[in-house]
Amino acid sequence: MLPLVEYGKEFCQKLTQIKLSRIVIMVFIILILTPLFTHFYLSNIERSSNHITHNAHSHIDLPEDLNAMKEPDLRIGVEELIRIKGSVLSELRDMERKRQKLLLEIQSYTKNIEELKQELVHQQTNLNRLKISVEQAEVAQREALQQNTPDLALPKRLTADEIPPILPSLPPSQIKFCRMFSCFDHSRCSLTSGFPVYLYDPDQFPVMNDGWDVDGFLKTTLKQTLGYNPHLTNNPKEACVFVVLVGEALKDVDDVSENVGNHLNLPPLDSNALKQLPYWGGDGRNHVLLNLARRDLTAVSGDVFSSVDTGKAILVQSTFSSQVFRPGFDLIVSPVLGPPGGDVWQECPQMLPARRKYLLTFQGEVKSNNNRTPNPSHGDDADLDREHAELDKFVIEHLKDLAKTNTADKFLFEFECVPASDDNVNIGPQDWALCGTDSSRRTVLRDSTFVLIFAPTFPDLVTTTLLQARIYEALRCGAIPVILGGDQIQLAYDEVIQWRRVAIFLPRARITELHFLLRAIPDEDVLLMRRQGRLVWERYLASVQSTLDTIVAVLRDRLNIPPIPIDTVAAISVFNETFQPIQVTVPVETEQEESLGPLEPPYNSPAFRRNYSLGLTQGHEMWNDWGDPFRLYPALPTDPLLPSDAKFMGSGRGFRPIGQGQGGAGKEFSEALGGNSPREQFTVLLLTYEREQVLLDSIARLRGLPYLNSVVIVWNSPRPPSAELRWPDIGAPVHVVKAARNSLNNRFLPLDNLQTEAILSVDDDAHLRHDEILFGFRVWREHRERIVGFPGRYHAWDINTQNSWLYNSNYSCELSMVLTGAAFLHRHYLHLYWKWLPQAIRDKVDEYMNCEDIAMNFLVSHITRLPPVKVTSRWTFRCPGCPQSLSEDDTHFQERHKCINFFSQVFGYTPLLNTQYRADSILFKTRIPHDKQKCFKFI
Ligand SMILES: *[C@@H]1O[C@H](CO)[C@@H](O)[C@H](O)[C@H]1NC(C)=O
Ligand SMILES: *[C@@H]1O[C@H](CO)[C@@H](O)[C@H](O)[C@H]1NC(C)=O
Ligand SMILES: *[C@@H]1O[C@H](CO)[C@@H](O)[C@H](O)[C@H]1NC(C)=O
Repeated sequence: MLPLVEYGKEFCQKLTQIKLSRIVIMVFIILILTPLFTHFYLSNIERSSNHITHNAHSHIDLPEDLNAMKEPDLRIGVEELIRIKGSVLSELRDMERKRQKLLLEIQSYTKNIEELKQELVHQQTNLNRLKISVEQAEVAQREALQQNTPDLALPKRLTADEIPPILPSLPPSQIKFCRMFSCFDHSRCSLTSGFPVYLYDPDQFPVMNDGWDVDGFLKTTLKQTLGYNPHLTNNPKEACVFVVLVGEALKDVDDVSENVGNHLNLPPLDSNALKQLPYWGGDGRNHVLLNLARRDLTAVSGDVFSSVDTGKAILVQSTFSSQVFRPGFDLIVSPVLGPPGGDVWQECPQMLPARRKYLLTFQGEVKSNNNRTPNPSHGDDADLDREHAELDKFVIEHLKDLAKTNTADKFLFEFECVPASDDNVNIGPQDWALCGTDSSRRTVLRDSTFVLIFAPTFPDLVTTTLLQARIYEALRCGAIPVILGGDQIQLAYDEVIQWRRVAIFLPRARITELHFLLRAIPDEDVLLMRRQGRLVWERYLASVQSTLDTIVAVLRDRLNIPPIPIDTVAAISVFNETFQPIQVTVPVETEQEESLGPLEPPYNSPAFRRNYSLGLTQGHEMWNDWGDPFRLYPALPTDPLLPSDAKFMGSGRGFRPIGQGQGGAGKEFSEALGGNSPREQFTVLLLTYEREQVLLDSIARLRGLPYLNSVVIVWNSPRPPSAELRWPDIGAPVHVVKAARNSLNNRFLPLDNLQTEAILSVDDDAHLRHDEILFGFRVWREHRERIVGFPGRYHAWDINTQNSWLYNSNYSCELSMVLTGAAFLHRHYLHLYWKWLPQAIRDKVDEYMNCEDIAMNFLVSHITRLPPVKVTSRWTFRCPGCPQSLSEDDTHFQERHKCINFFSQVFGYTPLLNTQYRADSILFKTRIPHDKQKCFKFI
């Protein structure tokens, strides 16, 4: 304001200097002109600048003697006024500028303060995290120091290194008493040997007598399929067992006309040829004589070993009499009726409905068997034989009556084959002939809830090929075997397979209770038995490959030698010496203001810890439930948990209890993993196809994520990433792996660089917050055998067609799938996806370029019989940027409907199960005291 006041003063001084004498002269002019001028100028001034009018008036109105002013003075005055006005205006503009500048400064200071505040929070979080990280590192170090027993050093593979030396042969009278401890040389089979198996080439070392031959097809197939078995070795020096193929011994075609009874006179097997095998070692120890029946189910060749000196060799076949069979030593197998290998699901009908057209069926014919050669050692049993034959007659009469009774249950019994069975001619020691053809029997079996199978009439028979073949047929068609005389017989591989879960074993005397018993079994158990039967059939009986693998695995299992580790897929990086990624540091996202856990160096999940105990403690589950008895896995989702006190009493290594065991709310929670399993980390597994920027953004968001072991990116595009890409440095290793071809199945490649049990499978565009990821990880740790993730979907019954499923992604209070575009799952399932899913499913995924996530949900639910676990409120994941036209969306959905129905067909049922709950953290939406923190701020 100062300059304005100064100008005012100056003006007043000028006015007083005007002389009074001039006043009179100028009165007239002044009286007329002054008001005009003044008015003109004043109104101009007022108009030009409203905000200075007040000051201007106060000066211009000042002296009454203004009227006395002369014209020039007036002009000067007016000019003066204009000058003042101009300077005032410029002054004001100056001030306005300054004001604006100050405002800006204030703004920037406030912003700075805000930023500093955020930085403070951030630094505090970081500091907290570092503190936790340091603490965790200290714990890990202490652990390492305290542990005075180091991890078991890798034992060297220890194998035999000489061919078996010649020993005196076993007196024939001793053969019957052979057991593993007396007739098997364990010294050739160290625990770490890997169970090497040597196969005699059947063409090079024939062991059959003249006139007999091993079935040619079988010979080739066996040789070939055994070649796929990882235990096979070419080096006889290191072998643990030596396999001799006897196969199915067939009479040469020329000799068929010979008297049938004479078959038994010349045994098919030549004992001298056996003894001349180069590694027989005088007594045939550690030799396995493999006699697999394929076609001639009722032929005499059932037992090729009777009256042959087989020394200490283990006999493997499907016909045994109790005089020959040595329990725990010989092995009962199923005949090889299936294809050499590959998918077998097409052979099986759907498992539903539980109750089929017939409650019970039987098709067969008793043959009075006069040709049965009395075995010298059990000739006295002839009476017993007759007794049993009588009993069978009674049983048949009873069944015929049953079929006639007035009941809603339907039975189909054929005790005389129409048309007559071809097998009539060739009936051997077995006394039940099969009726009809393979396909006609199949039709009936597919309509049978239960199927009756008779144990051999002669009580000294432990098993016959025919019996095993009937079991095979029944399981293939989902008919539950009811074995009459089940207390007399033994089924294939019964040292490992729990047959009671598959078939009903009934003493003949219970025939009168049969109908009641079958009626008393509810649908759940019918389906459970049918499912179990199919599992056993598919895994152990269905193909030549499964039979051979099973034989090797059972023998290995007897010795408690661990299987060969599962194959992994070698991860080949897209980068090489000449092509290196450009790494850049990315700015930390300010979004993460919670300290969610320690930042640790990569820590791999411990692997292969149960090599020698898994088979002992969970052998049954391995063989009969979720397990894979053929291969060794680094870790299983079903590995047992320690009791919670064990952590504090000697077994605490690796555990990170919350608050060192005293628990705690959010603060303590964020500092330690807690839970029931030891510390671990997870791997992000990401499939990507030509969306480089989306991918890089996704990777950058993972920076600073606690418990992250590494990121593995499967590069599905045939083109390598462009060289200019700037890969964000996120503080954890990022591997970019070349895919052999563009397939969605690659999402689940069991790569050898996946070092943790926990796999976070994500789409390249999934936008998950850190707290969501870590909460999901913690929940997965409590449901290691399930899929734990974010996007929920379900399978809905199509009420219009009433015969199929629809895929549905609508909001719903029930879900049955969690998509693997954002889900945790156990690494084990990646192996199973490639090894256990039928090829048809992976082919379908390739055909549609869709549905791999549905397939994984089917697989996991099939194995666990549990639904997935949904975490947090995130329901759907739509990528904001990607173009998805309605029609594309529609095809996508149509394909997914089809996938569900196709997969159901392959599995034989729909394994998906519904769930109605989701997981949120424990203190979510709970009122807690102010000095306590929630587990997570937002979830
Ligand atoms: C268990 O087997 C795996 C795979 O063969 C091997 O790497 C590991 O060293 C074995 N562990 C022990 C303790 O023998
Ligand atoms: C390295 O990788 C690039 C891109 O995948 C490829 O073009 C180049 O031939 C590779 N060089 C070598 C030495 O393998
Ligand atoms: C999802 O919900 C919408 C609206 O309720 C409905 O129109 C649509 O048919 C539903 N989609 C499916 C697949 O059920």
